[in-house]
Amino acid sequence: MLYFVLLGVSFLAAAVEGANFSGPSIQQITPPVDHAEGPTWDGRKNILYFVDIHYGGVLAYHYDTNKLTRVTLNGEVSPVVPSRKDPNILLVGLNRSVVAIEWDGNLALGGQQVLATVSKDHPTSRFNDGKADKQGRLWWGTIGYESPTGDLNMYEAYFYKITKENLDNPTIVKAPVSNSNGLAWNKANNKLYYIDTPTRKIVEFVYDDDLGVLSKENRTAFDVDLYPGKITGYPDGMTIDEDDNLWICLYGGGSVIKANPTTGELLKVVPIPARDVTSAMWGGPDLDILFVTTSKHSLSDTEKVQQPGAGSVYAITNLGTKGLPVFTADIIDSIAKRRPSGGQ
Ligand SMILES: *[C@@H]1O[C@H](CO)[C@@H](O)[C@H](O)[C@H]1NC(C)=O
Ligand SMILES: *[C@@H]1O[C@H](CO)[C@@H](O)[C@H](O)[C@H]1NC(C)=O
Ligand SMILES: *[C@@H]1O[C@H](CO)[C@@H](O)[C@H](O)[C@H]1NC(C)=O
Repeated sequence: MLYFVLLGVSFLAAAVEGANFSGPSIQQITPPVDHAEGPTWDGRKNILYFVDIHYGGVLAYHYDTNKLTRVTLNGEVSPVVPSRKDPNILLVGLNRSVVAIEWDGNLALGGQQVLATVSKDHPTSRFNDGKADKQGRLWWGTIGYESPTGDLNMYEAYFYKITKENLDNPTIVKAPVSNSNGLAWNKANNKLYYIDTPTRKIVEFVYDDDLGVLSKENRTAFDVDLYPGKITGYPDGMTIDEDDNLWICLYGGGSVIKANPTTGELLKVVPIPARDVTSAMWGGPDLDILFVTTSKHSLSDTEKVQQPGAGSVYAITNLGTKGLPVFTADIIDSIAKRRPSGGQ
């Protein structure tokens, strides 16, 4: 615990505001995994769920007890979205499939049911980032094949809308993309912000929540390329706050940034003690803690020693704002067909 406190203080001093104790404070709250991603807060249980993509991990950080639990599936896992009807059902991306799993965050993994499989034309692609919208539909995207050295096959991915009605053939909403990543709806729920990582841009679509459709046109809401020397890396996961500012994680950029998507302005840079920052989500009982996931997957052995916290989850407090309510998935009511689990 002392280690975490000291770490918090040293990075507090490094925050852009300077050594100001009313500025952000950062704490490592979990031990590292290989590649933590896709944090989502479930206020019904005070659990932060996230995944360890390449090791098939679905993890639950229990906020009230500080406990971390995990189940392991047979494949690459991302994202994870809790179900609206039953908080013990989680919708997960497993390779290219949408799978419902039964897990209460404590006991062993229960039943599993494959609900949909996408991108048959790109068998080496897999699901990547995704969220549920206010109506409970899933907006999930894929990523093309990544070689062991990290090279990405471009334009082999799609951004999907998955609903109760279209499980047989989920709707492609953007094609092709390369690495479908962070997304966030504004407070009025009439805009969707979206990241296809290699573009280094956050684009804004006009969003119709009743119909579940995006505008054809988009505008650039933020462009990482416009701030050389200030920020580096690639936009990965993101979230939004109650003032409609975006919090964007920079993979390879060692930071989370706050940006105004209306003016395109960079408002704040919060350094994270890991180079590869993967995603962020507001949580805690008051939704005022920014939970940030990181990765050590692509670090060299030397970098792993230099960044001992890489792969862990950080909690940032005192950011002066908070998140919007998190949406859950309304896709199935219960798991109908059970089959043996993919292992623990
Ligand atoms: C610390 O930061 C706060 C908020 O950014 C600011 O209002 C305050 O003046 C700062 N205090 C010092 C001593 O720099
Ligand atoms: C996911 O893909 C991996 C690698 O191709 C494979 O070994 C595994 O069996 C797949 N999982 C499922 C559930 O199909
Ligand atoms: C945004 O619009 C530009 C220009 O029409 C287009 O090239 C780009 O693919 C669009 N981006 C997305 C994610 O739809």
